Amino acid sequence: VSIPWNNRYAQRIEGMSCSAIRELLKITENPKIISFAGGLPAPEVFPFREIEQAFSRIIKAEKTLGAVSLQYGPSDGYLPLRQMLGSYPPHTSHNLAVENIIITSGSQQALDLLGKIFINQGDRILVESPTYMGALQAWNAYGAEYITIPSDQDGMQMDQLECALRSGPKFIYVLPNFQNPTGVTLSLERRIKLVELADKFGIPIVEDDPYGQLRFEGEDLPSIYTLDQQLHTRKGSSGQGNVIYLSTFSKILSPGMRLGWVVAPAEVNQALVLAKQGADLHTSSIAQVIAYEVGKDGFIERHIQLIRDVYSKRRDTMLEGLDKYMPKEVQWTKPHGGLFLWVTLPEDMNSEDIFPVAIANEVAYVPGKAFHPHGDGLNTMRLNFSYSNPETIELGISRLGKVFLEAIKNRTYRVF
Ligand SMILES: Cc1ncc(COP(=O)(O)O)c(C=O)c1O
Repeated sequence: VSIPWNNRYAQRIEGMSCSAIRELLKITENPKIISFAGGLPAPEVFPFREIEQAFSRIIKAEKTLGAVSLQYGPSDGYLPLRQMLGSYPPHTSHNLAVENIIITSGSQQALDLLGKIFINQGDRILVESPTYMGALQAWNAYGAEYITIPSDQDGMQMDQLECALRSGPKFIYVLPNFQNPTGVTLSLERRIKLVELADKFGIPIVEDDPYGQLRFEGEDLPSIYTLDQQLHTRKGSSGQGNVIYLSTFSKILSPGMRLGWVVAPAEVNQALVLAKQGADLHTSSIAQVIAYEVGKDGFIERHIQLIRDVYSKRRDTMLEGLDKYMPKEVQWTKPHGGLFLWVTLPEDMNSEDIFPVAIANEVAYVPGKAFHPHGDGLNTMRLNFSYSNPETIELGISRLGKVFLEAIKNRTYRVF
């Protein structure tokens, strides 16, 4: 008997419906197409030599590091790596206990585990709009619904936040630095307000920060985690704070290693670890030992400088290209770091409709709708500037400029 699989799947799979956008993006794998669509780091900044040396050292030490690397490991992560992260720059001021830090298989797993431990069918999550589509994808499977707060050049707008918090979201999800997809950074004033309001209403904040270390200009701002700790110290409260902080080695070492980390109150980490045991027992031992061996003497902090240099040049090239080739009706953000910028077309245009024309002209982007939980933002798109080299960026933006010029002239791509 041949099984009708569709009748067998759990209800949850309906929330997991494969994103049309991800399907669309498969087209961009054609090497002729200049893709600004993916969120890929530049392979030119992968630390090949350091990883090769660490790997060969580890694997030769059969009785010590080699055995640890090829063996099952603890679900909360490789202890030396967790200890190293405790004094990593974003956390130096926090006095973290090792129980506050766990290792996950990329931040994406942390997002999924958060969904697993916090989200019941119909729970509302407060997000910026637009927001990271991978979080929506993870949480849709648990039946999440979304309260959206618009953002501008200074990040999540605060005027609607208080009202939204009154409706009791499970948690707030925020990307304060060089946000994916817009590239904007949450201002200090708004960070403080966010932490105060979350505290007033007793709502946890999930701070997702893969890009904070990749600042090209301006001053680092305190993390939401830091501001929340300061607030609790001032108030003399006994808890470990309201913020769950996520970050990753994907953009500072290698995404293929699949290593992320969570900084959270110990009791939240215990729940995450229980959920993780059901998912994958633990994160790859060998990847964790390599990351520790590569990072233990401060290599990552030095390496980040190279990444910043390479990406800031690529961002500059993209911004110059946009100035040069885009019709005057088109607007874009000017990020101070990270991997992405955000383009806005005139309001009556639809970036999804224009996408096939861009592909025909051998250039790709991600249409903005995918980052909006309620499917709006039709006239927007995300461009990645980290992956392509400057010459390719200039060529790709010139192609995109022509596509938009034509589209605006003809205005055939109307939403209605
Ligand atoms: C905001 C954000 N969170 C999480 C992730 C997932 O990162 P990873 O699973 O590679 O650590 C990404 C990847 O691009 C991201 O942009």
